[in-house]
Amino acid sequence: MRAKTAMVMALSGGAAGGELAMPRMMYGTAWKKERTRELVLAALGAGFRGIDTACQPKHYNEPAVGEALEEAIRSGVVDRQSVFVQTKFTPLAGQDERVPYDASAALGEQVRSSFETSLRNLRTTYVDCLVLHSPLPTHEETLEAWRAMETIHRDGRARQLGVSNCYALDEIRWLHDAAEVKPSVVQNRFYAATGWDRDLRAWAQAKGVRHQSFWTLTANPKAIDSPPVREVAHRLGVSGAQLFFRFVLQLGITPLTGTSSRAHMCDDLAVLGMRELSADDMAAVADALERCYPRPASASA
Ligand SMILES: NC(=O)c1ccc[n+]([C@@H]2O[C@H](COP(=O)([O-])OP(=O)(O)OC[C@H]3O[C@@H](n4cnc5c(N)ncnc54)[C@H](OP(=O)(O)O)[C@@H]3O)[C@@H](O)[C@H]2O)c1
Repeated sequence: MRAKTAMVMALSGGAAGGELAMPRMMYGTAWKKERTRELVLAALGAGFRGIDTACQPKHYNEPAVGEALEEAIRSGVVDRQSVFVQTKFTPLAGQDERVPYDASAALGEQVRSSFETSLRNLRTTYVDCLVLHSPLPTHEETLEAWRAMETIHRDGRARQLGVSNCYALDEIRWLHDAAEVKPSVVQNRFYAATGWDRDLRAWAQAKGVRHQSFWTLTANPKAIDSPPVREVAHRLGVSGAQLFFRFVLQLGITPLTGTSSRAHMCDDLAVLGMRELSADDMAAVADALERCYPRPASASA
């Protein structure tokens, strides 16, 4: 698909209630190191309008994401209002020695300080979504961090809040109940060990919580490369990766792709413009997952 059409598709959904709707696919910026700026610019140029990052120097170069955003805005590729910018507060356990806040400060202060750094890094006055990178060891700690995130939201500096690496249905239910500002995003691995989050996704859909996936391709290579999936992809004239992303989209998931290839950026965005997969083709991919990664019947995709 041409970049222009892909861009329109990436923006589908538009704004709701003054908030920029989350794009149906997002560009992930982990592990890009010194190539971050160049790759984020390429992703925006290709048509991505959702960027995921984190205030976590161990895995993300958040300042380079900000440089790319500023450059893309300056050169007229995008305006700030059209890009869904998402970052994370990463608790101490997920940081290396480059902790981007005072590790001895109270949790709420760590969240505030990390967020100030994110705004500076990203060269923006607000983010579209602030995500808790993972729940903390106790509910009390998780809630302390969440309360600080709620304050940031109320100040208008994070339009939505989310949580990541939250795989237990009880845990996200608890957070949703305890939160005054409800999580509107859950960002999780899409993999067999959790039954591809089947129950959690059903709950999330009912509550209006958007599910974002990572490890989408890398955790499921046997299924993507299986003969039935290859046969469907061949018939539809797409790659196995594209078919799999389309399958995931039709499950109601917003996949993240962190591709470093410009060709794959276009291939991934083209998935948004693919024709709807038939029920039989959806079943073929779901069956391949079940057969390649056997799970109890209750945990199927
Ligand atoms: N919340 C968390 O804890 C967490 C953890 C991990 C990741 N994330 C987020 O999720 C993003 C995505 O990470 P990921 O773990 O899913 O992996 P990824 O970095 O997106 O890597 C996916 C792999 O898929 C390949 N790929 C992508 N499109 C393809 C295509 N059309 N055809 C063939 N291969 C293709 C890429 O290779 P090429 O580069 O060659 O295309 C790459 O090897 C990260 O950047 C980050 O933002 C969040």
